Amino acid sequence: MSGGLAGKVALVTGAGRGIGRAIAEAFAAEGAAVALASRSRADLAEVAGEIRKRQGRALAIPTDVTQDSAVEALLEQTLSELGRLDLLVTSAGTAAFGAVADSKPGDWDAMLTLNLRAVMVCCRAVLPAMLRQRSGMILNVSSIATKRTLPGSAAYTATKAGLESFSRVLAEELRPHGVRVGVLVPGAVDTPIWDALGGSPPRDKMLRVEDVARAAVLMATLPPHASLEELTLLPAGGIL
Ligand SMILES: NC(=O)c1ccc[n+]([C@@H]2O[C@H](COP(=O)([O-])OP(=O)(O)OC[C@H]3O[C@@H](n4cnc5c(N)ncnc54)[C@H](OP(=O)(O)O)[C@@H]3O)[C@@H](O)[C@H]2O)c1
Repeated sequence: MSGGLAGKVALVTGAGRGIGRAIAEAFAAEGAAVALASRSRADLAEVAGEIRKRQGRALAIPTDVTQDSAVEALLEQTLSELGRLDLLVTSAGTAAFGAVADSKPGDWDAMLTLNLRAVMVCCRAVLPAMLRQRSGMILNVSSIATKRTLPGSAAYTATKAGLESFSRVLAEELRPHGVRVGVLVPGAVDTPIWDALGGSPPRDKMLRVEDVARAAVLMATLPPHASLEELTLLPAGGIL
């Protein structure tokens, strides 16, 4: 396939729906072979089917990224079946809102484990391949919650702030080796993540997943000497 990512291999976590799915489909449309990771086998099969229908190359690898051994297996399968790894997008994430006074520490565990620890584990897992190639790009998905103070989002915001700090340090560690790290910071995006969250802003005023995918494609298709290390994308209507 031709396109800005022809010949590249991308691994996208959270690729079964929402932002991760849109990024995976957009990368495939740009010519990348895409390894799709999330837990739902059915979601991944549907996304892989859509990509293949448009002559793209997709590999569905059902994975719970909170399991370190599953992440290792994900990398092994991606490399053995697709041959290399140029791009990692960590879009698997979860959100639960509530005032700190009303929360229990256990309420924060799922967000800390998925939004922060699993992102760190996935980043670490791709390093041997990218360092060997002396090229690659990691794109971590943060949230506007780190820039705007939203009561009720303390634990979620802390995980995303941790992700941003981790990414900044990783970017410096990898800079001499030709591997780039970028953080994509979206405002509210109309995805299923809002289904279980109360007090959502109007869904029709939110960004669409395709908007976020366009931003990800921009970050991923810059020439190797340029690095878009943080991109904030907001709904123009002023919500979140
Ligand atoms: N939507 C927004 O307004 C918004 C704004 C800013 C930032 N973000 C961030 O963007 C990212 C994607 O959000 P989204 O709105 O696209 O969410 P979403 O629609 O709920 O999709 C989340 C994806 O992550 C996967 N996932 C969940 N737990 C997983 C696990 N343990 N292992 C592997 N995959 C897992 C889900 O599939 P399975 O459940 O099948 O595993 C699903 O494919 C998140 O990090 C979120 O914090 C979202």
